[in-house]
Amino acid sequence: MVKAAILGIGTVGGGTAEVLAKNRELIARRAGQEIELKYILCRSPRPGHPLESLIVHDIEPIASDPEVGVVAECMGGLSPAFEYVSRCLSAGKNVVTSNKELVAERGLELTALARKMGVNFMFEASVGGGIPILRPISQCLAANEISAVYGILNGTTNYILTEMIQRGKSFEQALREAQEKGFAEADPTADVEGIDAGRKICILADLCFGKNVPPSAITTEGITHITPADIACARTLGYKIKLLGRAMRTGPNSVTAFVAPHLISQSNPIANVDGVLNGIAVRGDAVGEAMFFGPGAGALPTASAVAADMIDCVRDPGTRVYAGWWPSEKGYVTGPDKLSCRWMVRTAAPLAEIAAAFSGVRFINAPNAAADEYAFVTAYMSGEELAEKTAGMDVLAKYRVLD
Ligand code: HSE
Repeated sequence: MVKAAILGIGTVGGGTAEVLAKNRELIARRAGQEIELKYILCRSPRPGHPLESLIVHDIEPIASDPEVGVVAECMGGLSPAFEYVSRCLSAGKNVVTSNKELVAERGLELTALARKMGVNFMFEASVGGGIPILRPISQCLAANEISAVYGILNGTTNYILTEMIQRGKSFEQALREAQEKGFAEADPTADVEGIDAGRKICILADLCFGKNVPPSAITTEGITHITPADIACARTLGYKIKLLGRAMRTGPNSVTAFVAPHLISQSNPIANVDGVLNGIAVRGDAVGEAMFFGPGAGALPTASAVAADMIDCVRDPGTRVYAGWWPSEKGYVTGPDKLSCRWMVRTAAPLAEIAAAFSGVRFINAPNAAADEYAFVTAYMSGEELAEKTAGMDVLAKYRVLD
């Protein structure tokens, strides 16, 4: 039998304790031995909690207990999660985490520390919740040169957009519901401003392209400015507005990664990933485009990935560090402004001004559009070119079209 500890007893920590208890026997069979929860680290007292007897308030009893073979960090945030995870890895414990901020910001050094200590550092739950995506990228697709990865990486914003698109709800109403259902972070800023999806696209880019993409190097745009008029224009074209994280190779030693709302054709399966689900596409030179769909947030789906990492740690201790994540040089990550794409633009500019700036645009006749507004789709051009053409124009909204 191996003893385990969970750091944090919130949504994911609680879900992980539940899965370990509920599927105890099958987990033991698959891990090769029983995994018994010995500690839960919770910084504040939790009188009356069903697992109160396991609660400790400090990392030391866990890090210094030779019986503990695997630690699941489910606290979220950078500090003290980073210090706790470092302490456990340094003490020779295998560590798994669902903490995307920690992995995106400090995963490179934690992976190096795990390598040095000969233990596992695994983080399948940090991207896509319960969707298997990091193992497929680093193992099943390991023979591919990956050129791009993109997808819906945040359940809260996808839920909000789905409710706005399908049921005409307001942003505020849909956000409140996402919080009530436990998808949204306590502070939803990271969700609705695209920061959470940004962390996840960094982790995907790290593993797809092998070099570190720090969150500070990428641009993120959220969903707070999306209006019913934008949604109606997209619908008229046969598109939906979805918040996408995208990363692609742009040269032998450069990648672009960013998060922004996009128009995505309803014929693309990712466009039909609705509600709290996430969907991720990976483009490889051998496999073509492989897609992964499933529950991207929530207690049990995320716990499913955390507990699976714990099983791997017990079955194969010290051998499952994700390969191929190395430091990057300055200039490795470039911004998205040079990427060429079509754009949907909504503007209050007069027709003559639009015609003078653009040639070959396709106008959109959305129902109920305001009389003094025009919406159109441009030819392919970069963000820089679009900015030049619309300089001084009253632009109400602009979105990349994913082709
Ligand atoms: N708040 C996140 C989301 C949780 O909505 O996707 C899962 O990472």
